[in-house]
Amino acid sequence: MELDAFFIPKSVALVGASRTPGKIGYVILESIKSSFKGPIYPINPQATEIAGLIAYPNLTEVKQPIGLVVIAVPGEAVKSVVEEAIKLKIPAAVIISAGFKETGNKEGEEELKRLVKGKIRLLGPNCLGTFCKDLDMLFLPRDRMKRPVDGSIGFITQSGAVGSTIMDDIAFEGVGVSKFASYGNAIDVNELELIDYLGKDLSTRAIAAYLETIHDGVKFIEICKKIVKIKPIVALKAGKTAKGTEAVLSHTGALAAPAEVYAAAFRQAGIVEAKTTEELFDFSKVLASQPPLRDNKIAIITDGGGFGILAADASIQNGLELPELAKETVKALAAHMPEYAIAKNPVDLTGDANSERFAGAIAVVAKDPSIHGMIIIALAQVPNMEESIVDVIRDAKMHGKPIVAVMNGSEYTMKLVRRLESFGVPVYPFAERAAKAMFALREYGKVLDRFAPVHVTKAPERKAEKLIAKKANKAAKKKKS
Ligand code: COA
Repeated sequence: MELDAFFIPKSVALVGASRTPGKIGYVILESIKSSFKGPIYPINPQATEIAGLIAYPNLTEVKQPIGLVVIAVPGEAVKSVVEEAIKLKIPAAVIISAGFKETGNKEGEEELKRLVKGKIRLLGPNCLGTFCKDLDMLFLPRDRMKRPVDGSIGFITQSGAVGSTIMDDIAFEGVGVSKFASYGNAIDVNELELIDYLGKDLSTRAIAAYLETIHDGVKFIEICKKIVKIKPIVALKAGKTAKGTEAVLSHTGALAAPAEVYAAAFRQAGIVEAKTTEELFDFSKVLASQPPLRDNKIAIITDGGGFGILAADASIQNGLELPELAKETVKALAAHMPEYAIAKNPVDLTGDANSERFAGAIAVVAKDPSIHGMIIIALAQVPNMEESIVDVIRDAKMHGKPIVAVMNGSEYTMKLVRRLESFGVPVYPFAERAAKAMFALREYGKVLDRFAPVHVTKAPERKAEKLIAKKANKAAKKKKS
């Protein structure tokens, strides 16, 4: 695929590689060096060596095939570098440099647009470029911005600042990203092509997009409609008020349409809309890791009564239902819990719950046919709770029904949160955010009902039950012997 050049090039040249620690051209080189396994060519006419690599005065002097050129020179020097890249038939370029339409230099941007058309693929200008496990070109130093582990969220952003801070948060929680692209002024590659690319990318399970503008509404809807049949898309549109729209113009030089137009387009395209940055983050991790919620009936299992109430309120406010549990479920739960625990929805295992009590309750509730998803609230600070709660919640995935977890706390809890996230369970610090995440899964469930109405929950459920029974048998045999 054409855009592969931005993520898995054979070699990378960096024009504007700097000798000065802390400068953008220096940090980009450090980032590339720490991730990219192929040849790297720093370009700087003032240097013969930078950061232990041979430096070249210009692209022509490299005399080796170049798969991608990253450009980080002052705006006025960009055009001649691009001309040289085109002459050398380099397939793709990323322009980090600012100083185009966003600063009023419309002419310079138009000139660049005409120059590259059909001759080279271009990301930017005024962007951060791309990030994935095999190529990191971000100019945020690694000791200031953590990089996410390899994962399944494909993330595109028109704003480098919004993108990089969300990435830092994602990384802190242990959530993984498959591919990231900041595309800035988008004079060539824009959101349409990137979404289409991520739609076909096998390592991406959900697409998250921060958008300030959409270049071609009709095409956007057409592309997204096809993708959402296979994987969810969550998008946040910025610039919804008159002032916000004005700010979009001076940020990337683009004009934005009214908020309602975007909301309608998102609905038509089957996109789950995030209304805030927090939702973009929260929804993308749940959509990338959990199956859709095919019905709005869920259960809450908690070891903290107050959290259970908050989760119940928030779930209902988000259009979900907390049905009564089946008689057999209540009976099985009661047999498994002390008398003072509450065997109805929300199920309150109380503050002396341990992993085993959670495991039993989850197994029983998951089998209830009226329950289609579970919010599991496990407050890890209580004295009886073991670290194995992480494995218990991970194993809940085997039931084939979507789960989201709530864990709130400082260092100790965060250690467990990161482990759980690494197993593909989305964890939220607050019940309200978990309920909203469930709502996002329901929204995607409805999208699938609309675009791809095939109900697939039965088979994985049976498979999960078999797996759990097999595990229980094994454990019983081990106990006997
Ligand atoms: N070819 C190769 N190297 C060149 C060059 C050229 N045509 N012109 C300059 N250089 C070298 C310089 O010598 C310097 O190296 P040195 O530090 O070893 O001397 C390096 O490239 C950088 O050039 P410099 O003139 O020092 O620029 P700068 O670092 O001050 O600024 C940018 C360059 C790209 C960072 C700046 O113009 C810019 O656009 N900043 C904003 C970036 C941004 O926010 N992007 C959007 C993010 S979302």
